Amino acid sequence: MSFFKYHNGELRAENISLSKVAETIGTPCYVYSRAAFEHQWTTLDSAFGDYPHTICYAVKANSNIAILNVLARLGSGFDVVSEGELRRVLAAGGDPSKVVFSGVAKSVAELEFAISNGVRSINIESTAELERVQTVAAALNATASIAFRVNPDVDPETHPYISTGMDKAKFGVPMEAAFAAYQRAAELPNIEVHGIACHIGSQITKTSPFSDSLDIVLTMVKRLASQGIQIKQLDLGGGLGIDYQGETPPTAQEYVNAMLDGVAAHGIDLPIAIEPGRYIAGNSGVMLTRVEYIKHNESKNFAIVDAGMNDLLRPSLYQAFHAILPVNENSNVEKSVFDVVGPVCESADVLGYDRELAVQADDLLAVMSAGAYSFSMAGNYNSRLRPAEVLIDGETAHIIRQREEFDDLTRGESLLPEQ
Ligand code: LLP
Repeated sequence: MSFFKYHNGELRAENISLSKVAETIGTPCYVYSRAAFEHQWTTLDSAFGDYPHTICYAVKANSNIAILNVLARLGSGFDVVSEGELRRVLAAGGDPSKVVFSGVAKSVAELEFAISNGVRSINIESTAELERVQTVAAALNATASIAFRVNPDVDPETHPYISTGMDKAKFGVPMEAAFAAYQRAAELPNIEVHGIACHIGSQITKTSPFSDSLDIVLTMVKRLASQGIQIKQLDLGGGLGIDYQGETPPTAQEYVNAMLDGVAAHGIDLPIAIEPGRYIAGNSGVMLTRVEYIKHNESKNFAIVDAGMNDLLRPSLYQAFHAILPVNENSNVEKSVFDVVGPVCESADVLGYDRELAVQADDLLAVMSAGAYSFSMAGNYNSRLRPAEVLIDGETAHIIRQREEFDDLTRGESLLPEQ
């Protein structure tokens, strides 16, 4: 189901024309659909039926506080990886008792903040981190509720930059070491063992990597139980893929069924948490950009647009494909094949290679599937202003982040004193 569709030749977000949004807000800008976010979240949530579960939306996918607030109103939990993300969740009205805190390098200050705000689980990624959590919790005279993020060494069969569950990755604790780490955790006075966590990668388009890693996790749960260590929650991470370019990932129901079948096969009925980011956000937003110039050289046509790799990094960093569609289908120019490139002074600043488009200068293009890992990875390279973000809610377009201004670029910088 898409919330971005053509109507009389014009691309719309819900009921709003994207040309109108571009006219009012300017380009480049991100446009999200509230209905799309809610639809994705609810589809995943209802796939669990009565089975006890928590959807902990991965904040890194799209961390605008208006989006977090929309999800918090549905009752969502959150997966955070920094104090900044946890502060965003709190600012958006999220419930810290539904927050899991992942990440390999949590600082003392971040742990203090998370423990004092009562997050549900600190997902520990090394034995060194366990000792730090104990020290911080003891100093606060508190108990830290923890899980170990285990590394099951399963190949998620996705892009190497977004694979996290193999033995060469920096993420998680290898299974044997995790068993010993749980035993150590059970002895520590300020640690409460809550769960076990596992996240193997992102944009996964089959159920088998999820089932394989779940099997390994559940074997560990039983082994721990035999040592008197009771796991109370299975956190199975994120990773469910989406359709960027005709991929056919499992449906939410197929994905959830794979998990429910896995737990049933082991005779385990523990509550499940998942940490989806891309599935909820990816196809819930687009980036609008305007063609500045058309340029031809001997072997190529270029559509040079006003958005670049600083605004949307995925194509440059992962060779990721994003469909690029004209906002207005009715063009009076012929179709040609273009590289759609940005203004940044890097050859890698390409949003899409070899796209057949009927475009001319001033036309608007929509870069599709840009709701996840898009604005959240944007930066200011070439001293470019980060784009505005707009959330469409039925008939209304809310600006949920103003376009940056030039003063934002130098905020916090200063000149040396004279002389
Ligand atoms: N949980 C943990 C611990 C994670 O590291 C991630 C993503 C997620 C959950 C959410 O995964 P998802 O459901 O969104 O696949 N920037 C890359 C993706 C990096 C993913 C990092 N971790 C991209 O643009 O494709």
